[in-house]
Amino acid sequence: MTQERKEEDTVAYTVENGIAWVSFNRPEKRNCMSPKLNRQKMRVLDTLEFDDSVGVLVLAGEGDAWSAGMDLKEYFRETEVLGLGRTRRAQSEAYGWWRRLRWYQKPTIAMVNGWCFGGAYGPLHACDLAFAAEDAQFRLSEINWGILPGGGATKVATNLLSMRNAMYHTMMGENIDGKMAAEWGLVNEAVSADALRGRVIEVANVLLQKNPVALKAAKDAVKRVAEMTYDNAEDYLIRAQEAANSFDNDGRKEGIKQFIDDKTYKPRLGAYDRSRQND
Ligand code: COA
Repeated sequence: MTQERKEEDTVAYTVENGIAWVSFNRPEKRNCMSPKLNRQKMRVLDTLEFDDSVGVLVLAGEGDAWSAGMDLKEYFRETEVLGLGRTRRAQSEAYGWWRRLRWYQKPTIAMVNGWCFGGAYGPLHACDLAFAAEDAQFRLSEINWGILPGGGATKVATNLLSMRNAMYHTMMGENIDGKMAAEWGLVNEAVSADALRGRVIEVANVLLQKNPVALKAAKDAVKRVAEMTYDNAEDYLIRAQEAANSFDNDGRKEGIKQFIDDKTYKPRLGAYDRSRQND
């Protein structure tokens, strides 16, 4: 594509069988994140967040990249010459949609099909789960062009990796492949490129069976309690449970009923039958 992409074409999405497939859509630029793409991501997240036809959101990349990180030309060079105000605005547009994704209403899955560099660690970390192709390539490349991994990337490394691996990855600026990323805990699993979409659909379909109020409460709880003392976490979880009950009392009661009274299902085998909730 020689012509510059319009802002609305920098992100592609479709909704199929409860799954929203949202893709970085600048394959000719290896899906690096420009201010236009960042603005469009926020619009798409907005559109899908409370759409009842969406139960799970998958973040993918068009072409052979997931995302080559921040756009070195449009996000850094061309923005910085416009001064501090424009630089801060571009940062808040990028960090804004990653933050939105970190606390998204629906479960989110990163499907890393190829290059995942630098700033792309922001949305990678924002997704609840991450699956990669074995030959996908991950790199904190910043050190190679003379900056520290900013935009949250260093925090992502220390959140997800051991201190030794975070330090090595940050200082060396080397690629690791999907297999190593799974061993290090940067993603949940790596599978062959051919199997990647199928595996993501399998996981999404399991999530689609769960109670959505409980899923949102549970995923937020994992992120919140990670930073709390045990006693604070215990207290938070009591309140979070009570708040979730007030949104979805019927679902919880139905689950208990199917187990205790009807004896039609066992929690250890999967989710209760949500279609019977209003019987
Ligand atoms: N910012 C701006 N442009 C980028 C980019 C980025 N982060 N990553 C890729 N591009 C552009 C290239 O400039 C090139 O544009 P052109 O066709 O107009 O010349 C196009 O995307 C294709 O890139 P190319 O390097 O030819 O693709 P490749 O498949 O050989 O390599 C990468 C892919 C991702 C390994 C390589 O592009 C790269 O190292 N990109 C920089 C990644 C990076 O350091 N990101 C950290 C930013 S925080």
